[in-house]
Amino acid sequence: MRIPILTLCALSLAGGFALADDDHHHGGKKYKRPKQLAVPLSAPKVWTAECGSCHIAYPPGLLPPAAWKQQMDTLKHHYGSNATLDKTDEQAIRDFLAFASQANRLPLEPSPKAGEPPRITTTRWFIRKHDEVTAEQWRRKSVGSKANCQACHAGAEKGDFDDDRVQIPR
Ligand code: HEC
Ligand code: HEC
Repeated sequence: MRIPILTLCALSLAGGFALADDDHHHGGKKYKRPKQLAVPLSAPKVWTAECGSCHIAYPPGLLPPAAWKQQMDTLKHHYGSNATLDKTDEQAIRDFLAFASQANRLPLEPSPKAGEPPRITTTRWFIRKHDEVTAEQWRRKSVGSKANCQACHAGAEKGDFDDDRVQIPR
């Protein structure tokens, strides 16, 4: 940790390092965006363990609270997987996601695929943020899926998506 002071300052602002990213490009059209992508230190171990076992534990700030509620209400049919949990763990994760996503004011956007809970990767925000990634790059074996954030964002699990540190694998 070489820059603890800077980090603390950034975190004490309402938005964490996601604030560095402004929304005034693209012809002045104003887009809302997720806020507070940094994962809170209070994240329960059960969340990291359970929601990080098949893919990274997606930082809660990426989706609005209503979207996480839908995730938690449909764990039995989770994108073709069964991700059900015992009652205590489920409640702990529910509470954490609701708390840690409250700064996210994006509208709830259903997945374009019927019967699926909302995705991060199909939101207008996500699509716009990735307008420079080509179809060929998305298809690479080293990437695998748009949901595989850490293929290109090494710090994804900590909520670091800074485009200065993006690297698309060959
Ligand atoms: C048994 C494996 C498994 C577990 C456990 C699991 N997931 Fe998933 N999850 C998946 C699969 C498979 C996908 C679809 C990935 C893809 O499309 O590449 C997915 C996708 C997602 C997505 C959407 C990614 C996108 O495309 O935007 C979110 C959000 C998500 N999971 C949240 C959670 C949460 C929260 C938990 C813990 C309660 C959890 N997952 C636990 C298997 C799992
Ligand atoms: C194929 C590589 C790749 C994958 C996979 C990927 N991204 Fe990105 N991401 C990029 C690139 C490249 C940029 C910046 C260039 C651009 O504008 O297209 C970017 C930009 C971003 C930004 C904006 C950063 C900034 O400083 O403005 C965010 C936030 C982001 N990605 C989140 C995610 C999340 C969340 C996931 C997974 C659900 C993900 N990305 C998956 C390549 C990727």
